[in-house]
Amino acid sequence: MTFRDDLDRACDWVDAYLGRVGDLPVAAQVQPGETRARLPSSPPERGEPFDALLRDLDEIVLPGLTHWNHPRFFAWFANTGSEPGILAELLIAALNVNNMTWLSSPAATELEVTVLDWLAQLLGLPRGWHGHIEDTASTATVAALAAARTLKPGGAVYASEQANFSVEKAARLVGLEYRSVPVDDTFRMRADFPIDDATAVVATVGTTGTTSVDPVPELARRCNDAGVWLHVDAAYAGAAAVCPELRWCMEGVENADSVVVNPHKWLFTPVDCSALWTRRPEAFHEAFALVPDYLAATEAAIDLKDYGPALGRRFRALKLWAVLRWYGGEGLRALIREHVRLAQLFASLVEGDPAWEVVAPHPFSTVCFRRRDGDNDAIARAATASGELFVATTKLRGQSVIRLAIGNAQTTEADIRRAWEVLRSCAAA
Ligand SMILES: Cc1ncc(COP(=O)(O)O)c(C=O)c1O
Repeated sequence: MTFRDDLDRACDWVDAYLGRVGDLPVAAQVQPGETRARLPSSPPERGEPFDALLRDLDEIVLPGLTHWNHPRFFAWFANTGSEPGILAELLIAALNVNNMTWLSSPAATELEVTVLDWLAQLLGLPRGWHGHIEDTASTATVAALAAARTLKPGGAVYASEQANFSVEKAARLVGLEYRSVPVDDTFRMRADFPIDDATAVVATVGTTGTTSVDPVPELARRCNDAGVWLHVDAAYAGAAAVCPELRWCMEGVENADSVVVNPHKWLFTPVDCSALWTRRPEAFHEAFALVPDYLAATEAAIDLKDYGPALGRRFRALKLWAVLRWYGGEGLRALIREHVRLAQLFASLVEGDPAWEVVAPHPFSTVCFRRRDGDNDAIARAATASGELFVATTKLRGQSVIRLAIGNAQTTEADIRRAWEVLRSCAAA
């Protein structure tokens, strides 16, 4: 068997998978330890053909996978491994570029910087900021807080009680105290907390729980007056800014110090790809630049290893480039608008049934709702166990609520209506 034969097989497998993923049970239907028990406990001594791997992928691994690329995957923040992203991942692996420094692969650095500038334009972000890609928003926030610490060491990090837990983790990692700020009745961070001892404030555009948008303009004003770094976590909802009518969510970001948006959440790019921009690249450089003898810097070039924690850097820019070129601004806007429409439709179905309620504003593609008199955790578990859809729960004001997050390019109105039917019948049962 030649590499070419195996490539054909792998491509056939991918094509068939994408064609049938919508018919598979969305969430894995296995118990802990079940997959491991079916895998050999030691590696093979002799090499095996690729076919054997594809067979085991189907027989052993696939039944234990949750299908994030399923159109009725609505848990956490649903996303899409889109066609251009999948094809680009193949090219990335073939090229196997490690984009540590400009010299380690010049075009990879320059493509990354260019693609981030393209994305900044699509999102209406300020031009001329430094942009680079991190693996995840978690890492991007660590990088931003490390940069903030160079300007004001030893202070606290303030973020909303609805902020993603990665913010607290990042504060812990860079050795800054973390303080949680209460939210108002629409789950937005209150802006009236004392700020003088802060090193950084992290505002969220699209919180993980409800997708609430913190008051960035007001926070930016206070941070700028107090000399405090403002980092904006727009990991999920930042993508909405491709649509002019949703761009309000990024208002004030032009006065922040850094902002992160995850193309691997709501911009149709396979995990992982997190875009980080800053107007203070020198603070990132101060936090991260080291020049070992074996990695000399190139004059007039930028070495992206100097702006974040990792030395080794995947060629993620290629997949973001592929996604932006395949869809174009027009295609991205159409998909985001469709997801928002579907979320509004789902909310109206919930609101049309007096036994249920929508529990938070839903400006994007995520709806938080609950059955008024039911065990919502049990309803979500039963709906997920049906294999028809996957929804997650969270707690808001001490109450369990169900979250339905739309982010897959293949999700249709029929999927949304089916999800509502399944949820209602699980609640009735
Ligand atoms: C608002 C928000 N910020 C940050 C993160 C962390 O993202 P990542 O998994 O890329 O670290 C999440 C994850 O869901 C999130 O919802």
